[in-house]
Amino acid sequence: MLTGNEIGYLRDMDIKCYEWVWDDATWVKESDRSIIRMWMIENLPRGFTVYRFMNFSIHIQKLGTHPSWRRRGIASELLVDIESSAKRTGVKRIYTILHELNDSGREWLRKRGFIADKVHKEMYPDKRDGYCFSKELP
Ligand SMILES: CC(C)(COP(=O)(O)OP(=O)(O)OC[C@H]1O[C@@H](n2cnc3c(N)ncnc32)[C@H](O)[C@@H]1OP(=O)(O)O)[C@@H](O)C(=O)NCCC(=O)NCCS
Repeated sequence: MLTGNEIGYLRDMDIKCYEWVWDDATWVKESDRSIIRMWMIENLPRGFTVYRFMNFSIHIQKLGTHPSWRRRGIASELLVDIESSAKRTGVKRIYTILHELNDSGREWLRKRGFIADKVHKEMYPDKRDGYCFSKELP
């Protein structure tokens, strides 16, 4: 169960990284069924990720770095951690869904071996599509 402080940190990071953010109730619900990691520096969160094991895959629901702390390898470290979890548990596929206009997220994922394999039509509140990016692990 998340503490009020942790929910506050996560909501703040969520707002800094995503356009559509989760409310407190969603954070509480997700903490029961997902793995949530925060990358702390000087006791403050600089990166975070939320992921779930789904049908022999890992679904990364959120992965973000505080805008002032980008390009220092924080998101890459979080992804390494997710990939280690996958290997430990025998999961062979990791995926995430990106807003169609998230160019920087798309490039970041492509450089790390993810490929777009599915479109979710008009899944966002602005009616834009979501692209599923997935990576098969050896
Ligand atoms: C996409 C996102 C997660 C990347 O976070 P990040 O912490 O900046 O990512 P990294 O630092 O691991 O990688 C970013 C770049 O910095 C580079 N980098 C890493 N360490 C570095 C360092 N010490 N000095 C300079 N550059 C560095 C990496 O090589 C990488 O460049 P590349 O993609 O050309 O290889 C971040 O922009 C973000 O939070 N976006 C909003 C949320 C989002 O869109 N999430 C979707 C991703 S699933």
